[in-house]
Parts: sequence; C-alpha cells; structure tokens
Amino acid sequence: MKSLLDLCRIVDLPKIQDTRGNLTFLEGGRHMPFDIRRVYYLYDVPGGAERGAHAHKDLRQLIISVSGSFDVGLDDGITRRTFHLNRPYQALYVCPMIWRDLENFSSGSVCLVLASNAYSEDDYFRDYEAYLEARRASLYFEGE
Ligand code: TYD
Repeated sequence: MKSLLDLCRIVDLPKIQDTRGNLTFLEGGRHMPFDIRRVYYLYDVPGGAERGAHAHKDLRQLIISVSGSFDVGLDDGITRRTFHLNRPYQALYVCPMIWRDLENFSSGSVCLVLASNAYSEDDYFRDYEAYLEARRASLYFEGE
C-alpha cells in the first residue's frame, strides 16, 4: 500500500556546468510542485544541533542543501525514512502532515527551504503525540 511518505521525493534540478562554477535554477510550473510564497534558510548551525521536530498541516516545502550536508528524517506516523542532502542540484519535496527532523549538519552548511505559504504557527504540530493523533483521525488533507 502506498504511504503518505511515498509522496515525498527527491526532485532533480537543472545543473549548468561551467569551468567558472556551476549554476542551478528552479522555475515555477516546471520544477516546483507548488507556488513559492516564502523562502527561508538555516545557517551557522552548531555541531550536534537538531532542527525541525515538527509537522505542518498544510505547508509544502522543498528543502535544498545549497552548501554542505545534513540529514532530513521524515516520518508519516507509520514509516520513517532518512534523506542525506548534500547536492545543491537536488531538492527534497515534503508534503503536508509529515513529521521532520533535521540533524547532522556539516560545518558551514546552508539549508534552503522554499515554502508554499507564509509563516503561520497555526500550521504547526510541535507535539509528536498530537501529530500522531491527527494522523490516526485523518483530520487533515493527505498530501496531493
Ligand atoms: P521553526 O520552524 O521551528 O524552525 P526549524 O524547523 O527550522 O527548526 O522556527 C523557528 C523560529 O523561527 C520560530 O520561533 C518561528 C520562527 N520562524 C519565522 O518567524 N518565520 C519563518 O518563516 C520560520 C520558518 C520560522
């Protein structure tokens, strides 16, 4: 049976190779499974720090390691999967109602996030048990 986690996937982005340096781009309607309403990035993450530890009710995201590497653990309440992001030309698509943990940030790494909506604390589950309860009750829209 297909799980919610199966909707989360690596999206390959164009890579224009050049001796002067490489270039990657994203275009709405072509590489993006949603319209971008917000961009944010994590940087200066101290060794051993963990980010994430929440799920979103409605938000869709693309997570890109534009520099360095880190691990993104995804959990749909039943299945867990870890993605090691270390390529600026690959994005991890995360659909709604997925619990995520980000860890093992390399020194100097930068985590770029493209998001489908503006920031809203109401869109968060920050308590894992409350998230699981909502998943069990299927209270929220399941992915795409
Ligand atoms: P949070 O989403 O918990 O960070 P992460 O998942 O990357 O560890 O957000 C951390 C804090 O920053 C929290 O107080 C909310 C605030 N914040 C904003 O104000 N706007 C944003 O776009 C984001 C992502 C967070």
